[in-house]
Amino acid sequence: MRSFLLTLLTTALATVISGPLSGANAGLAPLMQNLPGRQTQLLDGHWNYILDIYELGFYNYRMREDPNGFFREAKPRTPSDLIEYDFDKAETLMVPGDWNTQRTDLLNYEGNIWYRRVFDYEPVTGKRVFVYFGAVNYECVVYLNGNKLGSHEGGFSSFNFEVTRFIRKGRNSLIVKVDNRRKVEAVPTNNTDWYNYGGITRSVYVAEVPGTFIRDYFVQLQKGSDTQLNGWVQLDGTGASQKVVLEIPELRLKHTVQTDEKGYALIDCPAKPVLWTPDQPKLYQVLLSCPTDTVADQIGFRRLETSGKKILLNGKEIFFRGICIHEEAPFRSGRAWSPEDAEVLLGWARELGCNFVRLAHYQHNEHMVRAAERLGLMVWSEIPTYWTIQWENPATLQNARNQLSEMIGRDKNRTNIAIWSICNETPPSEPRNRFLKTLADDARALDGTRLVAAAMEKKTVGNNTQTLDDPAADFLDVLSFNEYIGWYDGLPEKCDVSNWVFTQDKPVMITEFGGGALQGMHGDVAERWTEEFQESLYKHSVAMFKRIEGLSGTTPWILMDFRSPRRIHPEYQKGFNRKGLISDQGIKKKAFYVMQEWYQEIKALEDQRNKTKASGRK
Ligand code: GCU
Repeated sequence: MRSFLLTLLTTALATVISGPLSGANAGLAPLMQNLPGRQTQLLDGHWNYILDIYELGFYNYRMREDPNGFFREAKPRTPSDLIEYDFDKAETLMVPGDWNTQRTDLLNYEGNIWYRRVFDYEPVTGKRVFVYFGAVNYECVVYLNGNKLGSHEGGFSSFNFEVTRFIRKGRNSLIVKVDNRRKVEAVPTNNTDWYNYGGITRSVYVAEVPGTFIRDYFVQLQKGSDTQLNGWVQLDGTGASQKVVLEIPELRLKHTVQTDEKGYALIDCPAKPVLWTPDQPKLYQVLLSCPTDTVADQIGFRRLETSGKKILLNGKEIFFRGICIHEEAPFRSGRAWSPEDAEVLLGWARELGCNFVRLAHYQHNEHMVRAAERLGLMVWSEIPTYWTIQWENPATLQNARNQLSEMIGRDKNRTNIAIWSICNETPPSEPRNRFLKTLADDARALDGTRLVAAAMEKKTVGNNTQTLDDPAADFLDVLSFNEYIGWYDGLPEKCDVSNWVFTQDKPVMITEFGGGALQGMHGDVAERWTEEFQESLYKHSVAMFKRIEGLSGTTPWILMDFRSPRRIHPEYQKGFNRKGLISDQGIKKKAFYVMQEWYQEIKALEDQRNKTKASGRK
């Protein structure tokens, strides 16, 4: 019954996503799983662009969609013809990459830009062809050779269109209208503490697959088991009654299933994998094959549960030694997108002593998640349901559901993702609680193997008694919240007199704390913006955390300074949020070492506890 409901919901969500050719997410094809495991042609590089402030390339002067818009790439046929645009003579922007940091005249631009990429293609008989976008912020309309493929809304999730009938031999022209304007009804809404980097911010691929291909699959240990694999596989094409073989060569596992009339089959078979842990991030080669397709992935297996106030990884209590990270490129600022960006950011997290990273406040690029998986870093992955969302707007809810489904859809096989987060710092109200409950139910229906949480906000009751008093905590797995005692809420010494009480028997995680410092500014410990003030704030905070019973994890805000329109002090901020433990130029601040020392202590205690348990078992 459960699998039937799962299919129903997945298909329903996919149908919603791939709806009619109008409105958000029109024309999309269901997302193909594991793009890196496919036959692809990369379209990264220089794309021509046209700045279209008035969207005249899309609407005529009566503001109606123009069938002869810029996507037609019209050329004068006679010397007297009037054509007022020309991609061939237009300048270029790099893809992937936000437009803001590529040109000074685009730094603060919020509006429409048209991108055009010409590429050669050699068709292969019987192959189906898709165009796959890592992400486009915030919404886009996509055309191939003058044909409108559809649109996508949401700045941080991957999506794809089937182009089999539009792509041709030789020259092809892919055109994307990108609009990064903030909207009160959007997700996120028009108010965030991060920079609204617009553009085709992640890589673009042409993906070739067989006529019937393995579009999607989910393979993981059954919840609560170390020895039973569960999951499903979905074919696309004439998928009915096909044999699909799941192989994990290193486990000498070969399991065959038969797809139903919709090309879908459940996976349920015994296996005894070495379990993935931060110290031993074991990944297995997993092969799925049907008569016409084989796809290979690297998948890890682990068990994740809570027990009272504990988080258990593979049955053992674990403390999430975490750090928050924005998708901000180290050294150059702008949107991070590359394997190199991921290696730098995650290398700093490992140096801090982390086994966990909170990828805020939206789904990060796939390089980041897969690099974290290889490095043994668990992940908190979040959709940008941030602050004052329009809780009573049905289109806003559908948008958030789409983004949640797309986030889980892309990363469900990444074993290091421990937590799906459905929001950040949203003000409790009946409409908001209903909105979030819908998202939490969706997350559990799409993936029952992970924890579902949110970054809520603590509350002070009485004099200096701190707690979490949020109705959403009732339907979430972790009591996770942000607190800024010592920065927004009193001074660092207030930590010393703050006591924490929790009424629910669930793990407690502090998903943001900390304060700002301008790297290199030194002075008295009482002087805000000095590294000494930030260091003191961290010392008082850590001393306070040691008094919290059932604390299962902390993710300080934040690894690295990041650009934000809200941070405008001309001396200390200059457009950057300075709460990083590291400056945007990669220089560590004194507070970095306070956290590093505490995480080393926690790790040593955990190792000792596990060693004692192991010797006790002998
Ligand atoms: C908030 C919010 C962050 C923000 C941070 C800050 O808690 O979640 O997105 O950047 O605090 O004020 O710096």
